[in-house]
Amino acid sequence: MEVIESVSLMQARSEELRLAGHTLAFVPTMGFLHEGHLELMRVARSLADRVIVSIFVNPTQFGPKEDFAKYPRDREGDLAKVEGVSVDICFLPDVSEMYPRGFQTTVSVRELSGHLCGLSRPGHFDGVTTVVSKLFNITKPHIAVFGQKDYQQLAVISRMVTDTNMGIEIVGVPTVREHDGLAMSSRNAYLNRDERRSALCLKKAMDLAAEMFASGERDAKILKNAMERLIVTHPYTSIDYVAVCDPVTLDDLDKVGEQALVALAVKVGRTRLIDNCLLKARNLSERRDL
Ligand code: PAJ
Repeated sequence: MEVIESVSLMQARSEELRLAGHTLAFVPTMGFLHEGHLELMRVARSLADRVIVSIFVNPTQFGPKEDFAKYPRDREGDLAKVEGVSVDICFLPDVSEMYPRGFQTTVSVRELSGHLCGLSRPGHFDGVTTVVSKLFNITKPHIAVFGQKDYQQLAVISRMVTDTNMGIEIVGVPTVREHDGLAMSSRNAYLNRDERRSALCLKKAMDLAAEMFASGERDAKILKNAMERLIVTHPYTSIDYVAVCDPVTLDDLDKVGEQALVALAVKVGRTRLIDNCLLKARNLSERRDL
């Protein structure tokens, strides 16, 4: 595996691979890799003949009171994991390479960035879209792979790619979970034993909403209240948001039609966790099968 730290070398290498006729798939990450990240790399591997992974803890997507400085990092461990899933190139720029003196450009997806996590993390998605467009310009991929765990991020990036004609195919991969249902996240490392137990409330709340939806409940407020009531019975939790919204616009729904996105952000102790699932009405052909 090649390890590249310089922006100009990475650009030159990608250009060379493109000219040689290779298809390039790219997986951006902030490192401290877990099975969720590795699954994206396996999917990338199956879609292209060269896979590029970036590991960069991006300061511009963290708020002033957030965990940039203490975000977990493990360069050597990450390199071993990436190599283990047959990645071809690992790009590890440092902050001064990505944001040299004088840097002043922001890429912003106006509306989609303002919902859900955008409300409690102002500026977060501008940081994400700016760094991801830089990473796309540096690694020049044909395909880029993202996790559905960060549903809003995937939606915002898809919008950016469409709106700015980047010509990159964006692929979403289902959330990878621990055996008990907790969505894998680098931030799970912050949880102590008791918090880890409480953290299961996100998945339990989504399962409850899915059950109620399957039994015919379509009132978004009733679904939300039920999830909130379940979450607050778990110690150390405080709800940031519980939303039942349109999966495309992310606008809040009053009544659920054919489908809805359930999205949650809950602080467990000092750790903010997010999760989401789609509620989908069974279609007619499925019903005929019953
Ligand atoms: P990070 O949180 O490291 O996540 C990198 C990618 O892994 C994202 O696409 C995320 O959705 C995906 N991912 C994380 N946990 C997952 C899980 N349990 N199952 C499936 N996929 C999962 O997201 C970021 O970094 C950054 O915002 C980034 C896009 C790299 C820009 O800085």
